[in-house]
Amino acid sequence: MCGIVGYIGKKDAKEILIKGLKKLEYRGYDSAGIAFFKNQKVEMIKSVGKISKLEDKLQKGDFSNYNIGIAHTRWATHGKVTLENAHPHQVGEITLVHNGIIENIESLKNDLEKERATFYSQTDTEIVAYLLNKYLEPDFLKTIQKVTKLLKGSYALGIIVKSEDSTLYVVKKDSPVVIGLGEDENFFASDISAIHEYTNDFMFLDEEEIAKITKDSVEVYNKNLEMISKKVQTIQLEQESLGKQGFPHYMLKEIYEQPIVLEKTLNKYMDKFSELPDLTTYQEIHIVACGSAMYVGMIGKYLFEENASLKTIVTVASEYRYEKTIYNNETLVILVSQSGETADTIAALRKAKENGQTTLAIVNVKSSTIAKEADQVLFIEAGEEVAVATTKAYTLQVAMFALLSLKLAYDKKLIMDIDSYLKDFKEIPNLLKKVIEQEDDIKTLAIELAKSKDIFFIGRKIDYAICLEGSLKLKEISYIHSEAYQAGELKHGTISLIEKDTPVIAIITDREIAPKSISNVEEVESRGAKSIMITTEKLKELVDASLVVPSVCQFLQPLLVVPILQLLAYHVAVLKNCDIDKPRNLAKSVTVE
Ligand code: M6R
Repeated sequence: MCGIVGYIGKKDAKEILIKGLKKLEYRGYDSAGIAFFKNQKVEMIKSVGKISKLEDKLQKGDFSNYNIGIAHTRWATHGKVTLENAHPHQVGEITLVHNGIIENIESLKNDLEKERATFYSQTDTEIVAYLLNKYLEPDFLKTIQKVTKLLKGSYALGIIVKSEDSTLYVVKKDSPVVIGLGEDENFFASDISAIHEYTNDFMFLDEEEIAKITKDSVEVYNKNLEMISKKVQTIQLEQESLGKQGFPHYMLKEIYEQPIVLEKTLNKYMDKFSELPDLTTYQEIHIVACGSAMYVGMIGKYLFEENASLKTIVTVASEYRYEKTIYNNETLVILVSQSGETADTIAALRKAKENGQTTLAIVNVKSSTIAKEADQVLFIEAGEEVAVATTKAYTLQVAMFALLSLKLAYDKKLIMDIDSYLKDFKEIPNLLKKVIEQEDDIKTLAIELAKSKDIFFIGRKIDYAICLEGSLKLKEISYIHSEAYQAGELKHGTISLIEKDTPVIAIITDREIAPKSISNVEEVESRGAKSIMITTEKLKELVDASLVVPSVCQFLQPLLVVPILQLLAYHVAVLKNCDIDKPRNLAKSVTVE
């Protein structure tokens, strides 16, 4: 999704802004641009494609004398990927960058067109620039107040006003923005990664707050234009990821990191097992998230229901935020998010809170909006995840559900021998390491799959939840069409898609249901499918499997299967020469709905 960064100080703005944009690259983008500001003049440079193209353009001019600027990476929403649509946008006195989506753009545009306004881009952002210019007042804070009242949707805006030589303005609603405080310089950005090289002191803007930033001061106002005092948070980021560390892609590096970060996360919570949240008072759990994080929730559902007898409903956040939700008095709403900035998940969290529900978030990024707003937060210790396709964060989130469901089962006295379970949890990082060592066998399988047009995943119960993630991983990075089905459901329609040699990957780890899944595999095989089965040591006599993982207790089995599917997706994508760390059309942090 779009990223914004701004600088005002004494240093070379170009260096700082380009570095900042590169740090925001992980969010996904298709064009980039910068506006430099000096002596009431604004110089804009934009390019379509990678930031290196913007750098090439910058090298052709002299942009080394600017100490103020705003910059942007664009992930197209309104309008195609073109130079005209790239940010910054400029109308009269106003130049701005924008992360978010203005939803009532059609009506605003219609009104402006009645006044014979003309637009050079197809973006919602240009309309905002137009309105700010139209309602320009000597006190620009009043202009912002007037215009933001007209806007529906989300925005983090970084604004230059030509007549105010030494000031930048920032305003936010439903899109994250942080201000970095320096000496004789200040910054703003979509997240701290873009500016933490220069400062550890940050101010996070809350909803509808406006910041007026000069090199020596930051004033923050609420929507009524009352100046407010903001807490400055000192945040030392963990040591930054040291690049790919010899791995050809971040995704592979992150897959290999899983045993280490799993150990770190499990140790952190197992050392204080009794302090994990007590869920015995809840009659129902709602797990709400998007994409892979929602598939983590599917695993969570089976773990809570099967092991701790607690009714659990999993809902995609983009639906949850709008659907009618029947809350029970004792409902816990669990939000799952790596980034903690996913717009729909934030909206779901706010809905739950507005309805008086208790919220618990499982999050990786500590400074994120979800981490700040949820009643309780369990942080996973994944460290920075760079590849767009999540791997280690997924695994750690699953581990958190395993721990929570174990704790609940113990608190409810459904299990007694807690020490033997905790011993299994302690052993899991090593077993995971052994699973990842099967990479060569997985590569061989990938060769068989890489030429496929469609690939199906089937499984029952928790194996189905595993399939959902395997299928998403495969399609998002290899661009092969793939679907996951409950094994018994295929014959109700989808089986008609099975042709000779269509690959069907069956996950069979649940002993009770294994014979049923095996029958489903036979059904597809007899229609020509090429089946690939993945099972556990204990079931290998029963299942003619291509890959076998160690058998562990029912809380932990998914942790040993999903990494196989991650590696499978990875190697298929390598064979297809795909852009693995930044798959087409995707963004790491989905900050618009
Ligand atoms: O940051 P979040 O965990 O909230 O992100 C949710 C999804 O956008 C994310 O899991 C997405 O599905 C990944 N690309 C999957 O690999």
